[in-house]
Amino acid sequence: MRGQFITFEGIDGSGKSTQLRMLAGELRQRSVDVITTREPGGTPLGRRLREAFLETEETVAPIAELLLFAADRAQHVEFLVKPALGEGRVVISDRFADATFAYQGAGRGFPEATVNQIIELATGGMKPDLTLFFDISVENALKRMRSRSETGERINRMDVETADFYTNVRSAYLAIAEREPMRFRIIDANGSVAEIQAAVVEIITKFLGKTSAL
Ligand code: TMP
Repeated sequence: MRGQFITFEGIDGSGKSTQLRMLAGELRQRSVDVITTREPGGTPLGRRLREAFLETEETVAPIAELLLFAADRAQHVEFLVKPALGEGRVVISDRFADATFAYQGAGRGFPEATVNQIIELATGGMKPDLTLFFDISVENALKRMRSRSETGERINRMDVETADFYTNVRSAYLAIAEREPMRFRIIDANGSVAEIQAAVVEIITKFLGKTSAL
């Protein structure tokens, strides 16, 4: 039986990566066969791409950025996501194709049809079974990003965008959530880590409870 593909999305500073780590720990304790991954950077090639085009101060042309996120995704789907799902595992990815609609579509202004075409090419039409959107206000997200950079945490090219950029990205995510209510769950990410974790665990327990994974 095919596994389950779950993705975590949110604007930068939403706290989704912390939540992903905590959820994976919780599921492993319950003996769920879970694999965690991320985009960009879920494969060895992806990690090299991530460093080359994201963790750099070099100016990257928006079209190059779009295609590089797609290249990372194609490699990720082919060599990690598909095989793991084929083995019946639960795959939780920190970002997937919705990020391209939100960041390159709404954020950078690429037409939806162009983004669609490129995502389709990269994924072969693969979609997550469930997507959690960690919804934080742009103001709170910017505060968290600032404090991260002050503590010397590694930041990337996208972490220095403006409030307007993140407002567009957030609205795009909410629009996808509205279009695909069966796949999306919106989590209020303005609260404490523990409150958010409780909401995540409740949603995932319910979701996996309907499958043979839990
Ligand atoms: P993160 O791993 O810290 O979430 O950083 C990834 C950054 O790349 C984040 O700012 C979102 C951005 N991104 C895109 O712009 N498009 C994409 O398709 C993906 C996967 C990420």
